[in-house]
Amino acid sequence: MIQHRVAYLPGDGIGPEVCAVARRCTDAAGERFGFTVTWDDQVVGGAAIDATGRPLPAATLEACRAADAVLLGAVGGPSWDDPSAAVRPEDALLGLRSALELFANLRPVRAHHALAAASPLRPEVRHGADVMIVRELTGGLYFGQPQGRSTENGIESAVDTLRYTRLEIERIVELAFGLAEQRRGQLTSVDKANVLASSRLWREVVDDLRGRHPDVTVEHALVDSTAYLILTDPRRFDVIVTENLFGDILSDEAAAIAGSLGLLPSASLGTRATENGRFGMYEPVHGSAPQIAGQGVANPLATVASAAMMLRLSLGETDAAGALDAAVDAAIDRGPRSGDLGGSATTAQIEEFLLAAIAAPVGAPA
Ligand code: NAD
Ligand code: IPM
Ligand code: MN
Repeated sequence: MIQHRVAYLPGDGIGPEVCAVARRCTDAAGERFGFTVTWDDQVVGGAAIDATGRPLPAATLEACRAADAVLLGAVGGPSWDDPSAAVRPEDALLGLRSALELFANLRPVRAHHALAAASPLRPEVRHGADVMIVRELTGGLYFGQPQGRSTENGIESAVDTLRYTRLEIERIVELAFGLAEQRRGQLTSVDKANVLASSRLWREVVDDLRGRHPDVTVEHALVDSTAYLILTDPRRFDVIVTENLFGDILSDEAAAIAGSLGLLPSASLGTRATENGRFGMYEPVHGSAPQIAGQGVANPLATVASAAMMLRLSLGETDAAGALDAAVDAAIDRGPRSGDLGGSATTAQIEEFLLAAIAAPVGAPA
């Protein structure tokens, strides 16, 4: 029996609620397709601050390094939000991304037909939209130095730095080209080249690499007008590749195409090869949703779809990945719906539907 090892980091707020569903769905797929997952439970974020004083304890990072993949829920919440606090839950995410060299964040967004009423976009605007946002994850404004606050000559200031090396841009853009080749052959590189030097280097790198990918149509677009087009004409996009902060903002915005943040999965990929794929960290795009945490009403579909990406990209379990994706699609088509999608189902009711779909797929012999 094949055994996979996954570091399990549920985190804060609704993180544990949605992760538990994704874990049981993965186990159910393992039962059907003949593998087991050894889940290595670890604390992260606010839960880790409470338990150890640090958002990313050494043991948690070690467990991630020893695993084939990481499944993460969400971190953060009002109890740790004091701006003057020395440690923040969100530091754990940045620490994991940089320590594990997870430079490529894939955030797919699709307009599911059955969710026309859940999206604020008109059906004819969103119908058929299918976008892959590729967010650079270990550079740019999140990590550039100098960063921080200071007071000089009585003048208080704060600084963040948007810095990219050519190599950092090359590896993310190259990965995005590869995805465009597997999809519809269109790459939109998003920047702010009319103002930022880092964006002008970014553009240059994209143009230098396009010769290697003659089958991909490339367009450069400015981030402000892209923010507009994502909502007014989302079908024009196939693969979008962009800087860390731009990608953070555009991906939450793009959730409006799908209908809810509770639907968007993500994969953060590094360079290390695993036995059956590539090491990665998988988490929903949404956060810890403190307003609904503990009520058992969170939408687990983004996390289940993230687990499907994990099965496909890190564990090499393509059939199991397909089964999780099919279960999510079935839940969207005809299953119980959570509050964010206009329904009133509990997380447990949605899980029950998913587990049944994974164990006995519709159309399969009993
Ligand atoms: P959020 O994504 O947690 O919530 C935004 C809105 O979407 C809220 O109305 C929330 O109720 C709803 N929502 C999100 N996920 C949902 C789900 N699965 N089911 C139903 N409704 C859902 O963003 P926020 O409120 O800005 O941030 C809350 C906390 O989460 C902050 O501390 C933030 O730093 C943190 N955060 C963490 C991550 C992460 O761990 N990857 C990502 C984003 C935000
Ligand atoms: C995300 C989140 C994180 C980010 C925060 C919580 C640090 O918003 O994963 O999109 O900004 O990257
Ligand atoms: Mn975000």
